Amino acid sequence: MSKQRTKLVVGNWKMHGRLAENAVLLQAVAQGAGELSADVRVGVCVPGPYLAQAQSLLSGSRVVWGAQDVSAFTQGAYTGEVAASMVVDFGASLVIVGHSERRAYHRESSELVAVKAQRVLEAGLTPVVCVGETLEEREAGSTEQVVGDQLDAVLVKLSDVEAARIVVAYEPVWAIGTGKSATSEQAQAVHAFLRSRLAAKGAAVADVPLLYGGSVKPENAEELFRQPDIDGGLIGGASLKAQDFLAICKAAGAASVAG
Ligand code: PGA
Repeated sequence: MSKQRTKLVVGNWKMHGRLAENAVLLQAVAQGAGELSADVRVGVCVPGPYLAQAQSLLSGSRVVWGAQDVSAFTQGAYTGEVAASMVVDFGASLVIVGHSERRAYHRESSELVAVKAQRVLEAGLTPVVCVGETLEEREAGSTEQVVGDQLDAVLVKLSDVEAARIVVAYEPVWAIGTGKSATSEQAQAVHAFLRSRLAAKGAAVADVPLLYGGSVKPENAEELFRQPDIDGGLIGGASLKAQDFLAICKAAGAASVAG
């Protein structure tokens, strides 16, 4: 069982936003976050061009910010790529790596995801490593195999000290953007499995935050976050609406008190 009491809620804006609407959203989230219980940590991962805006509007607030991907290279002739060190220049602290949309649409392998996680750690940032099975894989009974392999591919490249600095997000592909969240039992079962894989890497690694993602909403957040191995959430669609995102953050606070 997790010893963590603090919860972490991270928004993943994906490819959404414009300067004007971001300003309204970021200001509302920064303000609302100030009223949350001290047990809740909040972050938002924005599209790269908006990192400067996130830095200017979130500095001094309780909300941290980050990117949704990063290059596997440190610098050089890689047109279109963004290095982890560039993300650091904008005061970010988080980078999502291995989101299922990148695995599916950009053919990112678990090995590439592992290299990206290394680059993020080297830059002094926290990688939010995403794992998750497709519906087909779940129905074939291979959920644990799939998420276990995805996680192990990253862990094998990291020292214990590095591994203790990551965040893991379990996001079943069939639950992302579909409105169909995993039940709290389904999510907890996979989280418990992932926790045991992390524990096998080292005692300090067992306690890294394990987030659930996939159609988290204000209505289902608290129930999910009450599960012993669910330390918070990675929030897509609902992170674009300040009211919903803050309600999810509040649910995390309530769950941490109950937990
Ligand atoms: P969703 O996305 O909350 O819109 O389902 C979650 C994610 O993809 O991180």
